[in-house]
Amino acid sequence: MLAEQRDPQYFLGRSDHETVRLQRQAQLYGPLTRRLLIEAGVGPGMRVLDVGSGAGDVALLVAELVGPGGQVVGVDTNGQVLDVARTRVQAAGWTNVTFSEGDVRTARVDGTFDAVVGRFMLFAVRNRLDVLRTCMERLRPGALVVFQEHDAATWYRAVPHSPLTEQWRRWVFQLADKIELDLGFASRLYSDFCAAGLRAPQLRYEVPVGGGPDWIGYEFLPDHARSLYRLLIEHNIATDEEMQLDTLAARLRADTVNNGGMFFTLPAVGVWART
Ligand SMILES: C[S@@+](CC[C@H](N)C(=O)[O-])C[C@H]1O[C@@H](n2cnc3c(N)ncnc32)[C@H](O)[C@@H]1O
Repeated sequence: MLAEQRDPQYFLGRSDHETVRLQRQAQLYGPLTRRLLIEAGVGPGMRVLDVGSGAGDVALLVAELVGPGGQVVGVDTNGQVLDVARTRVQAAGWTNVTFSEGDVRTARVDGTFDAVVGRFMLFAVRNRLDVLRTCMERLRPGALVVFQEHDAATWYRAVPHSPLTEQWRRWVFQLADKIELDLGFASRLYSDFCAAGLRAPQLRYEVPVGGGPDWIGYEFLPDHARSLYRLLIEHNIATDEEMQLDTLAARLRADTVNNGGMFFTLPAVGVWART
């Protein structure tokens, strides 16, 4: 989530851990994305461009929705994670899903599309309007543009209140101030769509929330924390000892369970419009 607005290379890293994180993310956010895509109008027979495909989770969801008569083309700057996506698509038996390595603004992708979709990708680009406009150039008239992004400004929270999540909020917001991370960009998706020339965007807002000892959601704050770990240390905001990343998920789980509470992960803002 959060970063790379300062760096044209994707900032979250390209490790195996990142691939596992993307797949875990799909477990929790997959149902939200599926609902968004269906409501926006992604359906059988469509040719869809998936921008910032990562490990292929959205491409796999779209493949199910467009069916064998449709087509999915994924683009990502990270060739390594696209290998994971290709393997997963092959294992799922889809022959109509392909991936192309490159920046969505410049990648060679042939033909026009009925829809462009992207999830948790726009946060990572410096000029979102540029990306939206480039995507729109690849669409037929009347086609769909659908994005879903984390509302990072809301941050994680626990009810009853958890000092641990609040401590992380302070660290991350301090870092955002220092390196000018735009945590609130998801709240500007409506105006970004309008500025790109899309009319009357529709919006949806959903928050994965859970509790109890077996819920997977506690892993998400540590996942995001790991991607920020190096920066938090470099900027003298938190030490390794203070963060204790290896035990963070267990501590969040214990807090929530002991309090009989609920843990809220990052909300997802969904937006769609037609060209
Ligand atoms: C957080 S991941 C999300 C992956 C996938 N959409 C999902 O929801 O599971 C963001 C992905 O966007 C890719 N990305 C970032 N900027 C990009 C760009 N300008 N063009 C293409 N891909 C980009 C990154 O390499 C990364 O794989």
